[in-house]
Amino acid sequence: MDLQTLIRSRRSVRLFSSTPVKRDDLLAILEAGRLAPSACNNQPLRFVVVTEKRELDLLATAYPREWLRTAPAMIVICGNHDRAWHRTDGKDHADIDAAIATDHMTLAAAERDLGTCWICAFDAAKLREVLALPTAWEPIAMLPVGHPAEAAAPASQHHLRKSLADLTQWGLTP
Ligand SMILES: Cc1cc2nc3c(=O)[nH]c(=O)nc-3n(C[C@H](O)[C@H](O)[C@H](O)COP(=O)(O)O)c2cc1C
Repeated sequence: MDLQTLIRSRRSVRLFSSTPVKRDDLLAILEAGRLAPSACNNQPLRFVVVTEKRELDLLATAYPREWLRTAPAMIVICGNHDRAWHRTDGKDHADIDAAIATDHMTLAAAERDLGTCWICAFDAAKLREVLALPTAWEPIAMLPVGHPAEAAAPASQHHLRKSLADLTQWGLTP
């Protein structure tokens, strides 16, 4: 699939079939995250992969939605604030590094006809507890992965994108 088609085919999926995700597909998705660029190439990331039902249920306590419980696999993208590059004004780039890796993974999944949905509105304290993360680590995104259920229509927001004119400024004059 060419890149433009792939980008257009990705959408948030919030209902999955019970078919498990093949390990090779999970590995290909993780590899796309691994190859993502990061500030100063620090790669301050960890991808926690969960496929076991009991562990998926534990993760779901941090974002209790019925649809999330249909996901046969979950990747939690974690960032380490001590290992991330900090700009001279102190800005920590862990979130940016994690976002790029996560987006690579959503596209790699879409290329395999697998659905994903970014989740950031989780209970961070709960998720940190479930993952038993040391202080420097932060769970940045949850990414359920699975085969879209037949009933998983694109959400209404999916088609709502600002126009290029709204998003773009050519030159320095606003
Ligand atoms: C940083 C980020 C955080 C998000 N957090 C959530 C979330 O917590 N729960 C959710 O259902 N969707 C979440 N989304 C999905 C967005 O709602 C979705 O990407 C947006 O509405 C556009 O729809 P689309 O992904 O189908 O194109 C998040 C997306 C991003 C990029």
